[in-house]
Amino acid sequence: MTERLEIILSQIPNGKVFADIGCDHGYIAKAMLCSGKSEKVIIADISAKCLLKAEKLLENEIAEGRAKSVVSNGFQKVSGADVALIAGMGGEEISSIISSAVELPENLVIQPMKNPDKARTTAVEFGYKIVKDRVFKSAGKFYDLIVLKKGKDMLTQEEIEFGRDNLSGDNPTFKERIKQNISKLEKYLSVQNLSQETRLEITARLEKLKKYV
Ligand SMILES: C[S@@+](CC[C@H](N)C(=O)[O-])C[C@H]1O[C@@H](n2cnc3c(N)ncnc32)[C@H](O)[C@@H]1O
Repeated sequence: MTERLEIILSQIPNGKVFADIGCDHGYIAKAMLCSGKSEKVIIADISAKCLLKAEKLLENEIAEGRAKSVVSNGFQKVSGADVALIAGMGGEEISSIISSAVELPENLVIQPMKNPDKARTTAVEFGYKIVKDRVFKSAGKFYDLIVLKKGKDMLTQEEIEFGRDNLSGDNPTFKERIKQNISKLEKYLSVQNLSQETRLEITARLEKLKKYV
């Protein structure tokens, strides 16, 4: 397992039935069973070809009835899970999976690759509260990891954009990410052919970001 997957695994709560939506390789589901964090798992993927990898990895567990595999668009063919993960997809895809689900689990962990704001907004709109929302770094890349539980919540615009726990000021990885964003924007700004409007937009964004470092 990669370090990114190990970090995700460490934040998934224990449960009875764990569903990995978009499981691909199936490493997380296998680890959930092997570590005893879950009694049963459902491996789900929209692609039968991707799912085959997980089916091979969990061949014995499937034969023993501890794992079930299903080709499914999001949660559409998944039921009975109390914990689920949606990782490694864009925030818009995660948002669409949450909003199209007939049945959502009590606990949901999401790791959007981009547009985390979309995923946060939809998760809260569809009845989740934020348990933890923190950025981490692995193999030189930054990832948002959002742990959710059914309940009421209300996010500020800042929390939607940056993630609640990052705003408390005690996450050096968040500051590092913001510094990286600032230097990318400053580099972009140094390109000559930008319209006045674009320049103003970037300058305003830079001012906003600098508040966080
Ligand atoms: C980049 S892989 C991520 C695999 C794994 N979750 C991880 O984080 O390492 C994305 C997987 O999500 C699957 N996928 C994309 N959209 C999906 C959807 N709407 N429902 C289920 N699976 C989906 C893809 O087929 C692919 O296997």
